[in-house]
Amino acid sequence: MKPSIILYKALPDDLLQRLQDHFNVTRVENLKPETVQQHAEVFASAQGLLGSSETVDSALLEKMPALRATSTISVGYDNFDVDALNARKILLMHTPTVLTETVADTMMALVLSSARRVVEVAERVKAGEWKSGIGADWFGIDVHHKTMGIIGMGRIGLALAQRAHFGFGMPILYNARRHHAEAEERFQARYCDLDTLLKESDFVCLVLPLTEETHHLIGKKQFELMKKSAIFINAGRGPVVDEAALIEALQSGEIHAAGLDVFEKEPVAVDSPLLSLPNVVALPHIGSATHETRYNMAACAVDNLIDALNGKVEKNCVNPQILR
Ligand code: DGY
Repeated sequence: MKPSIILYKALPDDLLQRLQDHFNVTRVENLKPETVQQHAEVFASAQGLLGSSETVDSALLEKMPALRATSTISVGYDNFDVDALNARKILLMHTPTVLTETVADTMMALVLSSARRVVEVAERVKAGEWKSGIGADWFGIDVHHKTMGIIGMGRIGLALAQRAHFGFGMPILYNARRHHAEAEERFQARYCDLDTLLKESDFVCLVLPLTEETHHLIGKKQFELMKKSAIFINAGRGPVVDEAALIEALQSGEIHAAGLDVFEKEPVAVDSPLLSLPNVVALPHIGSATHETRYNMAACAVDNLIDALNGKVEKNCVNPQILR
C-alpha cells in the first residue's frame, strides 16, 4: 500500500500526478487546528507533509503520530519547530538551490527601484503629473559603482554580488559567519564586521534566515551606523529587522530609503507607515515568485518528499543527522 501524505498547497497537475504515483494524497487548504480536526484520521495516519507558508509546531505534530518527513516548498524553514521534528526523528526537506537566481533578481530590482524611485515616479506619470520637463524632484541616486554591503553570503548573497559586481561595477563588502573564498576571488568581495559594513555601504542588503541569533539583528543602533544616504534592502526575513526602528530611521532621515520584500508580520498591515512613506518600495514577499521558479520549487519539494520517505537524504535535507 502507498504511504499517505497531506498536501497543503496547490500543485501543477503534472506534479500532483507524480505525487499521486507514489502516495495516497489528501489535499487540505491549510494546517489550522480546525482543518486538522476535520481530517483527524488522515492526519493521524499521514507519513508525509508537503506545502508551504504554514506553521508546523509541536501541537500539529502531536496530531500526526505517523509522520516521517515534511517537505516545504521554500528555502526558509523558520515556520517549522525543528527541535520538535528532531526529537521525533522527522525529516525536514527544503528547496535551497532552485530559487537562488530569482531571489537575487528580486533584490537587484529592489536596489534599482529604491535608488531610482521607479515605483514612485511611475505612479506620478500615471497620475498625470508629467506635464513638462522633469526637475530635481524626480531625480534618484546612482546605483552603478556604489558600494554594496551584503549581510549573509550564502547562495543568494553570492548571486547578488555577481550581479552587482559584474553588472554595475559595485565594490562588494560582506558579513557572514565565515569568510567566503569564492566571493573574495570572483568579486573581490571584502569581508568585514557588521558595524564596518553598515558604516561603509551605500546599499545595505540583508539576506539572512530568521533564527534566534538573527532576530532583530538590525535595529536602532545599526540604522544609526548607516550613512544618511544609505538604502536598506531586506529580502531575507522580516523579523531580522526591528521594524519600528526601521520606520523611525526612514521617517527621521537616518537612512535614505528602503526596499522591502519581507516584513515582521505578513501580509504587512495596510496602515503600516511603511506603506505611506514615499522612500519605501514594498513588495509582497515575491522573492522567488516567478512561474518558472515556483514550478521548479514545487517539483523539487515533490522529489524531496519521495526521496525522504525512501530514506534518501543526500541533498536538500535540513536535519539529516537524525538518521545517524
Ligand atoms: C523562501 O523560499 O523561503 C522564500 O522566502 C520564498 O520566496
